Amino acid sequence: MDQARKDRIFALAKEQSQQQTLRFFDELSEEQQEHLSEQLEAVDFDMIRAAMTMENRAEKSLITPLKTLTVAEAEKDLGEYRAIGEKMLREGKVAALVLAGGQGSRLGFDGPKGTLNVGINRELYLFEILLGNMRENIRNAGNVRDLHFCVMTSDQNHQATVSFFEDHGYFGYPKEMIHFFRQDMAPALTHEGKILLEAKDSLSLAPNGNGGWFTSMQRCGLLDLLKKDGVEWINVVSVDNVLQNIADPVFLGATIAKECYAGAKVIAKVNPDERVGAICYRNGRPSVVEYSELTEEMRNAKNAEGEYLYNFGVTLNYLFHISETEEAAKNQLPIHRADKKIKCIDEAGNSVNPEAPNAYKLEYFIFDILEAFDDVLSMECIREHEFAPIKNREGADSLETARALLVARTGIAL
Ligand code: UD1
Repeated sequence: MDQARKDRIFALAKEQSQQQTLRFFDELSEEQQEHLSEQLEAVDFDMIRAAMTMENRAEKSLITPLKTLTVAEAEKDLGEYRAIGEKMLREGKVAALVLAGGQGSRLGFDGPKGTLNVGINRELYLFEILLGNMRENIRNAGNVRDLHFCVMTSDQNHQATVSFFEDHGYFGYPKEMIHFFRQDMAPALTHEGKILLEAKDSLSLAPNGNGGWFTSMQRCGLLDLLKKDGVEWINVVSVDNVLQNIADPVFLGATIAKECYAGAKVIAKVNPDERVGAICYRNGRPSVVEYSELTEEMRNAKNAEGEYLYNFGVTLNYLFHISETEEAAKNQLPIHRADKKIKCIDEAGNSVNPEAPNAYKLEYFIFDILEAFDDVLSMECIREHEFAPIKNREGADSLETARALLVARTGIAL
């Protein structure tokens, strides 16, 4: 590496008080030096500063219940909602985005989660199911045109995801309508705010949470491409739910009929401890409190009729109106800082496998952008029809439970 570039990298590390990241720099090959330098240049130092000075958001939040449009309440207007939504589908005004940049660490599956085979006696992949779910809505709407299907990946699984689609012929969907883009990465920080090294030539990096989707989509030009093609709404969904209802015309029609520019699908929780984010108002703005941040008191709070106040959990199926979201995205999202056990190397270059949490993992969450919208439609869906997530290796929300729910709902043979 030439001296001028090296000087710039060292100056950057010094300016940001992250000199420890270059501790082994002189031992590295040219290629490794370049790799580490590029990683350091890509770090969002503002995010680090904000994470180390952030206030306890929960303490500053007044949480109150948000009214949900229940299945029973929506019943009489389903025809109207469907008609509005199907017209939008036929006009190609909706695109789907599958968030697939997560690490899926709970599942312990070695590969991008969407490449998981849900079939038993045949191959039926998660990505294939999701694409199929969207295509069914497209077909039922009598579409003559296909909808854009976007997939957010991360540095860790981008290539494997793209190759997977290629190897499977894009499951028969037009290749030019499938778009992949990478989300940003965020560094793991010691409790003092220092970036950890994963190896002598690598920072410890992880995807920066599913809230990074909009800016990443903007930056890579995909948002412009969609807008030029007349897309007005994006349906953002998680990768892990085999019953995920993608481009659902009823949800879209209801959101439009209720004059909202964002919508969230919710389910009635099976019990107060179910691990889904609770839809609510935060300081008077539509919001979600993630299950990991929900207090015991909130979980069990009831109204005078004895009903849980925060009974509706988000399924991670959101609708966003593009131009309104562009405005909303101008606000800085809050950072969620989780204390984790993160493998790294120490000052001597030896690998460390910590037994207690040693570092902060930083993430943006998708639902925090809802606070920038005046009104968000929270719409209940029928759990057995739309929620069969694969989160854990076994037990609740596992491949086994998802398979059973998929068979029960669709009658297909696995
Ligand atoms: C998520 C939701 C939770 C919701 C539940 C429903 C968030 C923050 N949490 O919880 O509110 O009730 O699903 O099942 O939205 N992802 C990325 N990049 C990342 C991290 C995650 O694309 O950096 C994607 C994952 O690939 C997955 C989705 O976001 O598709 C959810 O991620 P995960 O971290 O597993 O969220 P949960 O804890 O299951």
